[in-house]
Amino acid sequence: MPLNRDALWYKDAIIYEVHVRTFNDSNGDGIGDFPGLEQKLDYLQELGITAIWLMPFFPSPLRDDGYDIADYTAVHSSYGTLEDFRKLLDSAHERGIRVIIEMVLNHTSDQHPWFQEARSSQNNPRRDWYVWSDTEAGYKGTRIIFLDTETSNWAWDPISKSYYWHRFFSHQPDLNYDNPAVREQMWNVMKFWLEMGVDAFRLDAVPYLVEREGTNCENLPETHTILKELRRKIDEQFPGRMLLAEANQWPADLRPYFGDEDEFHMAFHFPLMPRMFMGLKLEDRKPITEILQQTPEIPPSCQWSLFLRNHDELTLEMVTDMERDYMYDMYAESKTMRLNLGIRRRLAPLLNNDRRRIELMNGMLMSLPGTPIIYYGDEIGMGDNISLGDRNGVRTPMQWSGGWNSGFSIAEPERLYAPLIQDPVYGYPAVNVLSQRESEHSLLRWMQRIIAVRRSTAVFGRGAIEFLYPANHRILAYLRRLGKEAALVVNNLSSTAQAVELDLRRYKGNILIEMFGNNIFPRVGDLPYLLTMGPYQFYWFRLRRV
Ligand code: GLC
Ligand code: CA
Repeated sequence: MPLNRDALWYKDAIIYEVHVRTFNDSNGDGIGDFPGLEQKLDYLQELGITAIWLMPFFPSPLRDDGYDIADYTAVHSSYGTLEDFRKLLDSAHERGIRVIIEMVLNHTSDQHPWFQEARSSQNNPRRDWYVWSDTEAGYKGTRIIFLDTETSNWAWDPISKSYYWHRFFSHQPDLNYDNPAVREQMWNVMKFWLEMGVDAFRLDAVPYLVEREGTNCENLPETHTILKELRRKIDEQFPGRMLLAEANQWPADLRPYFGDEDEFHMAFHFPLMPRMFMGLKLEDRKPITEILQQTPEIPPSCQWSLFLRNHDELTLEMVTDMERDYMYDMYAESKTMRLNLGIRRRLAPLLNNDRRRIELMNGMLMSLPGTPIIYYGDEIGMGDNISLGDRNGVRTPMQWSGGWNSGFSIAEPERLYAPLIQDPVYGYPAVNVLSQRESEHSLLRWMQRIIAVRRSTAVFGRGAIEFLYPANHRILAYLRRLGKEAALVVNNLSSTAQAVELDLRRYKGNILIEMFGNNIFPRVGDLPYLLTMGPYQFYWFRLRRV
C-alpha cells in the first residue's frame, strides 16, 4: 500500500505514538530497537493506523528519556544504527505508514558538545548559543514547568561561573534563538531528517524558544517569527511534510501557531483532553462543549490533533484550579499518581478498566474534530506502574504475549530497561496482543474496528462540527458535515441508561444508518428524534436521504 499523495494527508491520519525502546527488542539486550519496531509494523498496519510518532531516539544521557539530546543527527546506539532507522522508515512507507519524528528545538542536553563548549569559558565562540546571566534575576515572570524537581529556571554553571536558562530540567539548557547561527543549525538538523524522508516533526516545547524581559517568555511574537521561517523553508524545499506543535496553551494562545497557514499544520488540543475526562466523571457534556466553543476557527489546511493519553503526565495545566482539584480527586486519589501539574497514569487504569468507558472515550477521540493519536499499549488496555519514578510508569514494555517477558525481549528479566507490568489485572499474562488478537470481543479487535469505521469516511477528519443541545445534558451529540456527507454522533456520558430527543428537523426524510453494523434506524420525521442509550453507550450514524 503506497503512501497517499494528498498534501493534507495528516487530516485523514490515525497516529500511533510509540517509543522505540518500549516496543520490541530484536537483539535481546532488554531495550527495544529499530529492527524490533520494524518487525511489528504488520501489527500496526493491522491495527489500521496510518502514521507513527516516535519519541526521541537520538544520542542522549537519557535523563529525560531522550528529550535531552546530545547529538541531533545520529541515533542512540541502543536503538540501532542510522541504517536501521532508514530501513524502518522505508518499511513503514511501503505499508503506507508515515513517520513523524521528534524535534526538540528549545533545549539540548548539558552533555551536548555545543553546551560543553559554551560552558568551557565565557569567551568561547559557542558561548552565545545558550542563554547566560551573572544573576538569577532575569525573566522573573516565567513559570516553572517541572514544579516537582526544579525551583528556578536558572541553574548555576560551576565551570564558567554563571547562570544558564532552562525551562525544563536543569540538565536541559535552553538554546539562544536570538543567535542566527542557532537558528541556521537547527534548520540544518531538520533538513538532515527531511532529506532522509521523514514525513513530519512533532516540534517539542515550541512556546518557549525566545525570552524577553517583562513577559512570561511564552508565545512571543519573536518565537512565532522563527517558527514561520521554518515553515517557509519546509514549504519551499519539502512540500507535503508536516509540522505538529507541542504548545500546551489555552485555545486563544494556540490559534497563532497556525498563523495564516504559514506556521504549523497541526497542534495538539491540550485544553480539550482533560475536559473529556471531566465530562465523563461529571456525566455532563458542558466541559466539552464549552471548550470547543471557545476554540477559535483554524485555517482550512490546519488540523487539531486529539489524544487521550501520551508519554507524559495527563497534564492539568490548561484547567482552572478548581477543575484541577476535581480531576485530582476523581482520577488520582493517591498522591503518588500526581506529577507536576498532572496525573501519571494510563488510560485503562484512569477509567477503572471499564470497557464501556474506554470505548466511549475512544469513540469521542475518533469523532471530534481533529486527528486522533493513540498511545502505544492503550489499544489493548495496558496498565501503569506508579512505583517507577517520573513518567516512566506509563512507558513500560509493550505486552505482546503471556510468554517470556511478554514477548518483548528474550533478555533476562533483570536486564529489561524497565520492569513489565505484573499485577493480576493489567499484567502481561492477562493483557497482551496475542490473546486479544484471538478473541473476537477484545479491546484490540474493537479498536481495529473503530479505526476502520473512522477511516471509511473523510467526514470525521475533515468535516465541520455542529453541536446539538438536547435537554438531557448527559448526552453529548454533534453533527459532522463535509460536502453532502453528514454523520451524527451521540454519546451517553452517564453510567445509567438515558433517553434523548434530538432536533433533526432539518434532516427530515433522512434515514440514519448505524455505522458499525450498517443497520437502518427509523426515518427522521416531524417529531424530535428519540434515542435510548445504555450506560456509556455511543452511536455513530450516517445520515442518508433516500
Ligand atoms: C515535552 C515532552 C516531555 C519532555 C519535555 C522537555 O514536554 O513531551 O516528555 O520532558 O518536553 O523536553
Ligand atoms: Ca535491543
